[in-house]
Amino acid sequence: MSESTTVIKGGTVVDQNGSRRADVVVSDEGTIVAVGEGLDGDRTLDATDCVVSPGFVDLHVHLRQPGKEEAETIETGARGAALGGFTSVIAMPNTTPAMDCASVVREVIDLAADTICDVRPSAAITVGRDGESLSPMAELVKLGVRLFTDDGTGVQDDRLMRTALEYAGSLAHLSGGQPIVLAQHCEVNALSEGTFMHEGEWSSRLGIPGQPAESEELMVMRDIALARLTGTRVHFQHMSTAGSVAMIRAAKDAGLPVTAEAATHHFCLTDACCADYDPLYKVHPPLRTDADVAAVKEGLADGTIDAIATDHAPHTPQDKERTFADAPPGMLGLETAFAIANTHLEMPIEDLLAAMSWRPAAIAGIQDQHGGPVVVGGAANLAVVDPNTTWTVSGAAMASRSTNTPYEGVTVRGRARHTILRGEAVVIDGEAQR
Ligand code: DOR
Repeated sequence: MSESTTVIKGGTVVDQNGSRRADVVVSDEGTIVAVGEGLDGDRTLDATDCVVSPGFVDLHVHLRQPGKEEAETIETGARGAALGGFTSVIAMPNTTPAMDCASVVREVIDLAADTICDVRPSAAITVGRDGESLSPMAELVKLGVRLFTDDGTGVQDDRLMRTALEYAGSLAHLSGGQPIVLAQHCEVNALSEGTFMHEGEWSSRLGIPGQPAESEELMVMRDIALARLTGTRVHFQHMSTAGSVAMIRAAKDAGLPVTAEAATHHFCLTDACCADYDPLYKVHPPLRTDADVAAVKEGLADGTIDAIATDHAPHTPQDKERTFADAPPGMLGLETAFAIANTHLEMPIEDLLAAMSWRPAAIAGIQDQHGGPVVVGGAANLAVVDPNTTWTVSGAAMASRSTNTPYEGVTVRGRARHTILRGEAVVIDGEAQR
């Protein structure tokens, strides 16, 4: 059968080469075959008033499979991701059992074989994410894992983290030269155990035990030192405090191999949201202060923070509708990420898309397939977003199996309209096609 084509017509292409009016033709064999004015294809997707961007890449999602399929599956999570404009997401390893060995990682790869978003597994740094012994990283790199993290918890032991970095630094020969990334959930347990929100004015008022910003910052400080010592890159996950942003800025100025992400909720919500003891606002790291939100935004604006991530963390109502202390931490993010970023960040759209697409793609080492420029021969993984449309968030209307969005009923601006994965229009006019 001959290839068939789809033209994305009437939009503005924005990628790392800048911004221009152009139609884009993709082939169902997965590549971009023409970019220019007045193009046609076998099918047409209208992109009037829209931005055509390389597909979004999320370095941080929890898809709950295996083990907690009642909250999310790889299939439903991938559908939510595609609806959010993502063409690739990295699944975190805090599943049950943890993604710490070949069999579980293979299971995730198999479950993601035909999803409408490219789901890539991360894997745990330590066996069982228990911080005691290293996972079989070489074997997992051979399976395609490029990012290791114990997310949900940080590696507490300094020596083990040093060893993990040294080991990761020696594995690039198994990954075709792509760097292996050690990503850290920065949280010093000694300062956070028994706490449920940020320590500050609001935790005092509410009588909820709080964790200080220093719980995150001490581990950021240590891992910057270990990146210097080992020369291996550390990626800092969901940075939430002004102190963390300042340290990462200084580390980058010093030329150290560090990258960082911020989760959407950490630049639009604060600890004041916890005022009604609603566990929807319980998340790790916790929502911080106005000053921290301002610092995270500043870090995104000046590039200190490379990427916007969601930390999409579905939880069933049964789990989430408990007391603030008992409820699990986490909130949905995939279907609202672009809207939240577009509504709350005063960044030029080019910079916003860089943080949602090509920079995270480069961190994950998947820039040959995702986040590349919109040029002939490039991979046809694209997001067509309308930055000006407004809509009201509803958890029940989401593809996710869970509904724990902190933005329920909130009107936001900007939405993914079409998503193209390997040349296939998997989302058209906000509807998943399969
Ligand atoms: O809020 C969070 N939820 N933070 C984490 O680190 C883990 C995540 C989850 O898995 O629910």
